[in-house]
Amino acid sequence: MPNTILVGAQWGDEGKGKIIDFLTEEADIVVRSQGGNNAGHTVIIGGKKFTLHLIPSGILRARKACVIGNGVVVDPIDLIRELTGLRKQGVTIADNLIVSDCAHVVFPYHRILDECRERAKGDKKIGTTKRGIGPCYGDKVERTGLRMGDLVHPKTFSEKFQAKVEENNKILEAFGEKPIDFLEVKKAYLSAARKLAPFITNTVVYLHEAIKAGRNILFEGAQGTFLDLDHGTYPYVTSSNTTAGGACTGTGVPPHRIDRVIGVMKAYTTRVGEGPFPTENQEISDMLHAMGREFGSTTGRPRRCGWFDSVATRYSSMINGIDELAVTNLDGLDHVEKIKVCVAYKLGTKTLTVPPSDMRELKRCVPVLIELPGWKASTAQARSFRELPPKARNYLKKIASLTGPKLSIVSVGADREQTIRL
Ligand code: GDP
Ligand code: IMO
Ligand code: MG
Repeated sequence: MPNTILVGAQWGDEGKGKIIDFLTEEADIVVRSQGGNNAGHTVIIGGKKFTLHLIPSGILRARKACVIGNGVVVDPIDLIRELTGLRKQGVTIADNLIVSDCAHVVFPYHRILDECRERAKGDKKIGTTKRGIGPCYGDKVERTGLRMGDLVHPKTFSEKFQAKVEENNKILEAFGEKPIDFLEVKKAYLSAARKLAPFITNTVVYLHEAIKAGRNILFEGAQGTFLDLDHGTYPYVTSSNTTAGGACTGTGVPPHRIDRVIGVMKAYTTRVGEGPFPTENQEISDMLHAMGREFGSTTGRPRRCGWFDSVATRYSSMINGIDELAVTNLDGLDHVEKIKVCVAYKLGTKTLTVPPSDMRELKRCVPVLIELPGWKASTAQARSFRELPPKARNYLKKIASLTGPKLSIVSVGADREQTIRL
């Protein structure tokens, strides 16, 4: 398999975890390059469900190496919780996982500040996952963060951490919050550090040696294009670069070593959290929620749902340089009589074919919708493109051609087996 970046082409939760698991069969190494445990990637294998937050979804396949890259932010306590949970489910995690010594560490004050800032924003809140992601990346950019490499040096860690706790306790106090107990948290983090020490290394060198040895890499994107800090619906975004470029900075693998970009998108659109969402539709939200679908895998919040938005996915294809598309959740539309697809936005009298970068304008955009006939049949059993109802094939061809790249994977159910390769 060529070195492949896999990105979410919409607002996250496109089914990246499922497609990563499918593609890992052909990969040697799976690497996360950004985000943290705000991600929730679901993989279902033979009916058994796994939810990954920090650990790459590739961990579910034996003999594949997984890397948490330098661009990721790691909550060590949560990483251990995830690791333990996966082991209980029968997953082997030993020398098949390594963690970058340059990845920044998420601390309790990041999580509490995330909550406080959201609360203070009132109805202007972002709707974050409250995992402390923004404040942790904030410290990284401010150049005051602590990294995984610091954790394994107790003396330097204690000094740097004490200064951070003192500073953050003043801020917490201003928000009316209880201060952090330095000794208690230090103890918990140093204990986590002892457990994680065997995993922590220079992952850049590891990846470069692997490339030299001819091993191939699958870059597992977290979140989605419109949650990208630069290209998303700012400020309703996450705090990392979720688009293809982030895979290089977040791992230290240079751009000329990347051979292919795959964009994952749902056959419709979802978004969790606040912010503009032009094709949002109450009817389709109600329908999907009634089917027990589209509840967040990290926070359990119901996702907002809407029609497929080709203005957004076309722009996403441009930013990421998407070569191939994986369309998931086709089966979610199995019983819809008439399916709508957004082909442009109306902003007053203007017709737009790219999303405006000004959020006030995006909020005012009205989708221009075309209608396609539904196939009104189950697609869940299809294992080849030919086995799909003709109207489902037409729908897929239409959304792929509106987006641009070629269609290479279709998913018709959450299970690993329910995947079609074109
Ligand atoms: P990710 O964050 O992009 O990995 O996506 P999530 O796992 O958060 O959300 C995707 C949801 O859709 C999960 O519940 C998956 O199990 C599920 N899923 C993925 N592909 C399909 C599909 O083709 N059909 C159905 N029914 N569910 C799917
Ligand atoms: P995966 O990898 C969907 C959203 C949050 C919020 C915004 C900022 O599973 O696709 P943050 O906690 O990152 O500061 O929240 O980003 N968000 C996600 N939405 N899927 C995700 O990850 C997300 N990670 C963050 O809901 O709107
Ligand atoms: Mg998710």
